Amino acid sequence: MATLPHTPDKGDFETAATSRKSTSTRAPSPAPRVRRDKVTSHESFLTYGNGRWWKIAIGVAVVSFASYFLIDVQPRHNGGSWYGYTMGTIGFGLILWLTLLGVRKRAMTPGRWSLKAWTSAHVYLGLSLIVVGTLHTGFQLGWNVHTLAWALMMLVILSGLFGIYVYATLPKSLSANRFDEEGAITEKVMIEQVRQLDRQIHDAAQPLDPEAAAIIERSLEENVFAGSFLQRIRNRYPSDRTRAAVVELRQLRNFRPRLDDDPFERVETLLTKKEALLAKLRRHLQLKSWLQAWLYLHVPATFALIAALSAHVFSVFFYW
Ligand code: HEM
Repeated sequence: MATLPHTPDKGDFETAATSRKSTSTRAPSPAPRVRRDKVTSHESFLTYGNGRWWKIAIGVAVVSFASYFLIDVQPRHNGGSWYGYTMGTIGFGLILWLTLLGVRKRAMTPGRWSLKAWTSAHVYLGLSLIVVGTLHTGFQLGWNVHTLAWALMMLVILSGLFGIYVYATLPKSLSANRFDEEGAITEKVMIEQVRQLDRQIHDAAQPLDPEAAAIIERSLEENVFAGSFLQRIRNRYPSDRTRAAVVELRQLRNFRPRLDDDPFERVETLLTKKEALLAKLRRHLQLKSWLQAWLYLHVPATFALIAALSAHVFSVFFYW
């Protein structure tokens, strides 16, 4: 009979994709279940204030287009005309203000200029920049630092649009994935269930012979959340030891006599349960990672944009 080391309280389930508070396995307190019937009224930042910001953004776009076609610039529209300078200054100011959302996000205040209002204005005024920024160029694009600034602006805007898509679709998948037979479960409950299963597998494996016990030991030692950001976001864990343990145990079992109360069978059932739970939990982490992943493009591209914009403004005033 083999004795397995029992170390489920090592706290090795914490992952980078999840916040410390929500996933720490150190506190074994009974995890709360979310009531299915708890419904809250929720106004999205996309429709905030009766669509105030998309109306304003459309107004900005219409005025920009109208002035572009009504104002006669000779020989043709370009960034260096008085109209071009005006649009460029508005665009530059807008970009600096949009960047301030990063600061605003970290300061909570309710009311008219709540974070929801800011985000709503951010999204729609950010989109209006497509018009303001492009009309500023007068469609004079080429291989230079000015066009680089415009291209980076478009990249930030497109990544923002992707962020909206992610925010609009993933939370639904996230909550659908969190349901089990008894209702919605939290991430913390899932982690606690993995720990409980680990304890049960450990106990059920005690009667196994050393060879089989070693297989279980290897699977219990695995940090089931270890893996790169890429693995998490693709939900692919090729060296999953729980899966390997199920396969290896089945193979071993073929060479063992069948018993009435077979410990192999009990362990295998528990391992299969753990596998299903891990699939759910890893899907949860995958969705959560996608909710953050687009910001890894949006924010660095914003900094690159500010750098290119500074070079653009500097070169316009000092070299032209
Ligand atoms: C040049 C234009 C833009 C700039 C410079 C910009 C910049 C930023 C910055 C600095 C943040 C804060 C990120 C953080 O600290 O976590 C942010 C967040 C965000 N941006 Fe933009 N952005 C722009 C355009 C857009 C557009 C057009 C959209 C949508 C269509 C958009 C959607 C968002 C969203 C949804 C957030 C996250 C809000 C949150 O996490 O609560 N952005 N943006």
